[in-house]
Amino acid sequence: MSHSYFVANWKMHKTATEAAAYITALEAELAGTDVDLSNRLIIAPPYTAIATVAARGPHASPKIYVAAQNVHHESEGAYTGEISAGMLSELGCRYVIVGHSERRIYCSESDTVINKKASLAAESGLIPILCVGETRRERLDGKTWDVVERQLTAMGKTAMKEALIAYEPVWAIGTGESPLPSEVVEIHVRIQDFCRSTWDTIDQPVLYGGSVTPENVASFLSGSCSRHVNGVLVGSASLSSHLFASIVRLGGKCTSSLQLSTY
Ligand code: PGA
Repeated sequence: MSHSYFVANWKMHKTATEAAAYITALEAELAGTDVDLSNRLIIAPPYTAIATVAARGPHASPKIYVAAQNVHHESEGAYTGEISAGMLSELGCRYVIVGHSERRIYCSESDTVINKKASLAAESGLIPILCVGETRRERLDGKTWDVVERQLTAMGKTAMKEALIAYEPVWAIGTGESPLPSEVVEIHVRIQDFCRSTWDTIDQPVLYGGSVTPENVASFLSGSCSRHVNGVLVGSASLSSHLFASIVRLGGKCTSSLQLSTY
């Protein structure tokens, strides 16, 4: 089976009630369209809306999977305000985002902690979605691959053997700017080579994220990108069910040659 991933990261937006209305609207937007049902829709709501989306997701068409936006790096204990992988799994999460740049920056999450989170999540049956990417300064200094390689090198095989990777340049997040598709392909090829040689993983899905819109989604998923860009991670534009449905429809028309069996 070949499919592309469309991940909606709502960040700190939407109550449970708003989430329910969104799923209804998204389903209505996609109903009757020629959307490829094999593509995988993943919604990452805030914790408080996870149960709502998880309850609705399996009945939606295409089926909606749920991702948490974060998880703690210990399985339980005296960590006030934190949420464990087991709790998320029981609520119906299948995926969890780790290493998003907003958590690296605002919550000072280190590569070491991110590896712990992803490892524990994987051991608990969740599939990590690891975000990597360089800042504008690092890009200007020609350090893009150095940064991505450092972020990947910190990750162990337990964390990564089934993980999705999202290449998200920090300077492209929420700015309306994005790299050229050819630049995205170049990094994705290096990421895929790294995965093969480091963890022995084959066809590890690598998504692009950073100011993805209905206008530019096809440029990242079609043509020379189609073999190396296996989906998109969408922030701002995913807050509108109309825009996210457009991204799923337009992006879904682009073919991906990725053969997936285990992810
Ligand atoms: P954006 O966010 O689509 O608003 O740039 C992407 C992300 O933070 O994952």
